[in-house]
Amino acid sequence: MTARTTTEIPSDLRGAFERFPFQGAEGLHTPELGDLEKAYLSECIDSGFVSSVGAYVDRFESELASFAGARFAVATSSGTTALHLALLAADVKPGDLVLVPAITFVATANAVSHCGARAVALDVEEESMGLNPKGLSEFFDSQTTRGPDGTRLHSATGAVVRAVIAVHVLGHPCDIVAIAEVCERFGVPLLEDAAESMGSFIDGIHTGLFGFAGIFSFNGNKTITTGGGGCVVTNNPVVAERVRHLGTTARIPHPFEFDHDVVGFNYRMPNLNAALGCAQLERIPALLSAQQEIYRSYLGHFQDVDSVEVVSQPDGRQSNYWLQAIRLRHGGREARDAVLSLGAELGIPLRPLWKPIPLVEAYRDGGHEDIPVATAIYDSVVCLPSSPAIIRPASSTLPEAGT
Ligand SMILES: Cc1ncc(COP(=O)(O)O)c(C=O)c1O
Repeated sequence: MTARTTTEIPSDLRGAFERFPFQGAEGLHTPELGDLEKAYLSECIDSGFVSSVGAYVDRFESELASFAGARFAVATSSGTTALHLALLAADVKPGDLVLVPAITFVATANAVSHCGARAVALDVEEESMGLNPKGLSEFFDSQTTRGPDGTRLHSATGAVVRAVIAVHVLGHPCDIVAIAEVCERFGVPLLEDAAESMGSFIDGIHTGLFGFAGIFSFNGNKTITTGGGGCVVTNNPVVAERVRHLGTTARIPHPFEFDHDVVGFNYRMPNLNAALGCAQLERIPALLSAQQEIYRSYLGHFQDVDSVEVVSQPDGRQSNYWLQAIRLRHGGREARDAVLSLGAELGIPLRPLWKPIPLVEAYRDGGHEDIPVATAIYDSVVCLPSSPAIIRPASSTLPEAGT
């Protein structure tokens, strides 16, 4: 339930919501599933290979790698488990620190906690809502020193800053080139949480490929879905192998013996989910163009409403426009809550951005940096219905089963 508030909504904004272009939209981002998915799922069931080994897993991984232009893609049971495995591949250990942006879904910080490490949140930049490279550089300069083995040590606690995670919020690429340069300068590995940014590029390079690894999520609300699932993309064969090994119970390859060299995880994507993923990958051009079209439609719809701006891709970076959003220019959290309440009244599924990590109850005592920009963004952004199906009938321009 959204909180009731007495804040006035400007009449042009109220009017824009009353004439909302996608009345009856269900959910924020629902998947498009059809005959192709049914055909692949049924083929998978007929094959008997429904678990974590099978032809669809191999095919999905190879098609993912080629879509992203990565040397390797390792499919996992979720984006969160992909993050966990990638962090383990970077040797993140209990007691380490991992720097994360204040604005992200809680899974980014959870994956750090699953390693026994501590997620420390830094502020974000205004335009992309992603980690601010300047703030990152200042953090390293003022709060860390170089350890004897070349690692970065957090001066206050003596903990190793083992990795940085950058997130492409709502699909919009953050300033990853500058972030990668800072990480390189201070010798700290960079992982990209590209859970939301499949189909987002910078200078022709897919998000997820600027650090040692990146991850995607295929949760039901993402650009493509496998029901639940994720993957790690990387150009580094050692990272790919480590992720695959740890996610497959760390089993030592052998024709029949079951032995395991470390404590591993059962994080592999089942073949059944990969079958869904293969069908969804065939739709990705249509899904991405629908997301663009929804963005353009909102841009037109809100163009004369002075009190808001539609959130757009940062200059010079290509967003997949996964989730559309507006930003209120005035009024802070009360004004945002008034708009969310209006959405509930009109039956429009509007949502706030996730609570910044330092404000999330589970992470309140994390020793985070000040986050004025993230807080202002959280207070002013409203996410809009973004399901591809709202822009066109589900069956149009989509590949049919067997084609
Ligand atoms: C930024 C971000 N990171 C990580 C995740 C976790 O992915 P999953 O839900 O597949 O575990 C999500 C989405 O759910 C996300 O939006």
